[in-house]
Amino acid sequence: MKKNLKLKNESQVVPIIGLQWGDEGKGKGVARIASGLSKGDLIVRFQGGNNAGHTIWHDSKCYVFKLIPSGIFGQAQIHLGAGMVIDPFALKRETTTIPKSVSFLNRISVSPHATLVLPTHLILDSIGELKKGTGKIGSTGRGIGPAYTDLVGRNALRVGDIFQNDFQKRYLTLTEQHKKILANIYKYKINQKEWSEKQKNFWEGIKFLRSLAIINSKEIISKTLAKNNKVIAEGAQGTLLDVRFGNYPFVTSSHTIASGVGTGLGIPPSQIGGAIGIFKAYVTKVGEGPFPTEFGGEKSAVWCRDRKFNYEKEIYPNPDLNSPDEFEQGIALRRAGSETGAVTGRLRRTGWLDIPLLKYAIEINNATGLVMTKLDVLDGLKKIKVCTHYLGKKEIPFDLSRTKVKCVYKNFPVWKGKLSDCGNKLPKEALTYIKFLEKTLGVPIIYIGTGPEEHHCVERYW
Ligand code: IMP
Repeated sequence: MKKNLKLKNESQVVPIIGLQWGDEGKGKGVARIASGLSKGDLIVRFQGGNNAGHTIWHDSKCYVFKLIPSGIFGQAQIHLGAGMVIDPFALKRETTTIPKSVSFLNRISVSPHATLVLPTHLILDSIGELKKGTGKIGSTGRGIGPAYTDLVGRNALRVGDIFQNDFQKRYLTLTEQHKKILANIYKYKINQKEWSEKQKNFWEGIKFLRSLAIINSKEIISKTLAKNNKVIAEGAQGTLLDVRFGNYPFVTSSHTIASGVGTGLGIPPSQIGGAIGIFKAYVTKVGEGPFPTEFGGEKSAVWCRDRKFNYEKEIYPNPDLNSPDEFEQGIALRRAGSETGAVTGRLRRTGWLDIPLLKYAIEINNATGLVMTKLDVLDGLKKIKVCTHYLGKKEIPFDLSRTKVKCVYKNFPVWKGKLSDCGNKLPKEALTYIKFLEKTLGVPIIYIGTGPEEHHCVERYW
C-alpha cells in the first residue's frame, strides 16, 4: 500500500526544507505529497539549479531530478521559480528521462525571472574551484555560483530575455567577458571543439525553453491559492548550505531556507506557512566544510574528498557497522544508506545526528512538522549516539570552520531486527529515540522513513 504524506495548513504555501546539508530525502517526501495532489495544485522550486539531485522511485525505477520538481509523476502543476538558476540544455536533457507515458509539458511552467546558466558559467565554476586548491568548497561544478554572481553583479541573462531580439548579442557579449576572465585571470583557454559542442547544446536548450509556458511565479501561486488549491515549495540543498545562514563559505549560492521561498518566488511572508523540515536519522555531507559529528573526523573528510565508491568498496569490502574505529563505522553507514552523491557520485561524509545544528535549522525555518528519513539505516547498530550539545557552548559559533567544538553525546538503546519489517508498530527502543528527539526539538515528527520502498513509512499524529 502506498502512503501519501498529508498536509495540514493548506491555505498558504508549504515549504519543504532540508534541515541538514542536503540529501535528506526531500525528493521522496515531495513525491509522496505529490501523489496525493490534484490537477489544480502546484509544486514549485524556488532556488538552486541542477546542483540538486532529488532521487525518487517510480514504478520500481529510480529517477534523479535536478531541475524539475519531484512531483512530476503526480497530476499537479509544476513550476520552476524566479529564484532558480536554469541550465537550458540540462533542463531539456532531464525531460528526456521522463517516461513517454507521463504527460508533463502541459503542466510545466518557468518564471521569466529565473537566471540562465551559460556554458561559460560551468567552465568558470570548475576552473575557479581548481584554482582555489586547498581552499576549494567542493562545488558540484554546475555553474551555480558564477550564474548567481552574474545576477547580483547585474550582468545576468534571465529566462525572459530569450524572447528579446537582442538576446544572441547580449549572450555573446557576456560569454566574451567570461572568456576574458578565464584567459586573463585563470590562464585557461577553452578547447574549440568542446566549445562548439557546448554552443550547439545551449541553443538547443534555449529552443526547448522557448517552447515552455513562461509565467510569473507570483501570478501562478496567487491564482492557485485563490482557488483553495495547495502549493508546495520544494527546497533544494539544505539549511546549512544557505548562502547567508549556512556554514559560510562552505555553502551554495542561494537562500535554501524557508525565507528563500518569499524572495525566490516574489510572494509576501503572509502567503508562506510553517515549513515541513526533513532530516535524516544521522547526518551526511558532500563537499568541504565543518562537520562536528563526522565519523572519523578529518580522516573521513580527506578520504571522501579524494576517493570514489569503487575504490572504497575494494579496500573495505565488508565494513563493520559496530567497528571500534569510527572511521570504519562511517564507511559502513555510508554503505548501508547508499550515501553516494546523486549528482557528482562523490562519497558522502557521514556522522551522528547533531541536535545543536538541527535546532538551529528548525528555528530558522519555523519548521512546524518534521520528517525523519532513513531510520532503518541504523538497524544493526549496537549503540546509537546523538550529539546533544557542544561542550561549553550555548549557541552555534559564528564560524564553525574556525572554531573547534567538542560534541557531547547521549547513547540510546537499539532495536532488534529490521524496521522495514515492523509495519506501523515501531519497536519501543525506536520510539524512545523518536520521543527524545521530539521533546528536545519541540516539534512533532509526523513521518518516519523505515525502508527503501513506498510503504516503508510510519505516519504519526494525523
Ligand atoms: P554548488 O551549489 O554546486 O556551488 O556547491 C556548493 C556546496 O554545496 C558544495 O559543498 C556542494 O557539495 C554542496 N551542494 C550543492 N548542492 C547540493 C545538494 O543538492 N546536496 C548536497 N550538497 C549540495
